[in-house]
Amino acid sequence: MSFRLQPAPAERPNRCQLFGPGSNTKLFPKMAASDADVINLDLEDSVAPSDKDVARANIIEAINTIDWGKKTLAVRINSLDTPYWYRDVVDLLEQAGERLDQIMIPKVGCAEDIYAVDALVTAIERAKGRTKKIDFEVIIESAAGIAHVEEIAASSPRLVAMSLGAADFAASMGMQTTGIGGTQENYYMLHGGTRHYSDPWHWAQAAIVAACRTHGVLPVDGPFGDFSDDEGYRAQARRSATLGMVGKWAIHPKQIALANEVFTPSDEAVAEAREILAAMEEAKASGAGATVYKGRLVDIASIKQAQVIVAQSELIANS
Ligand code: COA
Ligand code: MG
Repeated sequence: MSFRLQPAPAERPNRCQLFGPGSNTKLFPKMAASDADVINLDLEDSVAPSDKDVARANIIEAINTIDWGKKTLAVRINSLDTPYWYRDVVDLLEQAGERLDQIMIPKVGCAEDIYAVDALVTAIERAKGRTKKIDFEVIIESAAGIAHVEEIAASSPRLVAMSLGAADFAASMGMQTTGIGGTQENYYMLHGGTRHYSDPWHWAQAAIVAACRTHGVLPVDGPFGDFSDDEGYRAQARRSATLGMVGKWAIHPKQIALANEVFTPSDEAVAEAREILAAMEEAKASGAGATVYKGRLVDIASIKQAQVIVAQSELIANS
């Protein structure tokens, strides 16, 4: 362990991020009433170019008029390679009230992308006397984004969360798939004539988790496109949770309960974590650094593992 302590990420539930196009106003009240922890009103790829101006105006009105409860309220702006993004930032920061929590920046490729948005946001916050600092979240969804993932994670104190965007990522990487997340038909090992499916998203997720945990940012799994496939969503989300991600996107309301289920530690997992902590307390009292719990080794590292589960459960219970 470095002498530098690992910074803690934002203390907020982030189990599910629900998306909805800024051009579809009838979804907004349903999103506000949902059980998602984070709302992402979209100005980017779910909005046609001809609808960008009206979507911006819709979103600003919705931020200012709808009761979003205790949810984290975010807007996904357009990416920096488009002519839209500066107007997104200017109009949002000038016209949306203090209820706006966060801006999501898609398709980031390097730390300078965040610097550019930070400079603009900071200037408008000062000019308008905004009192609440806007947080950022980013999407890693390109070859450049994953290649520069650590400098991006370290790029700004505003950065709170980072998601993997599977569809754009696959396209940028030249992956032969049109699937958005999940198992890919041709990604298998052959053993004894049987196909064993592997996870092509795994390495990118692990790189994101490592960069995020190094810099106190929340790692989040992105979209799962086939919203008819509950078990596929669950399986993907369980892998993400096991790797250290704290939540996953929902692109349809059906997926909210699935994300909340997977990213809320189960009662059994919490009970077991508490038992491990108790076993280690007993071990410590008798001067031992390791002991046996249910026939397996637990030691001082097990305390930290168990504390992750207990802390996550308490954070959710107290939110
Ligand atoms: N948030 C809240 N409610 C939603 C919703 C969303 N994102 N998407 C659909 N609903 C509502 C519908 O309005 C409908 O409500 P009703 O029962 O009151 O009529 C209900 O959920 C069932 O919707 P359904 O008919 O199954 O879906 P749809 O055909 O209306 O919409 C999508 C399907 C995929 C177009 C829509 O879910 C959507 O726009 N998702 C978000 C896409 C997005 O933002 N992408 C960017 C990030 S990748
Ligand atoms: Mg994308």
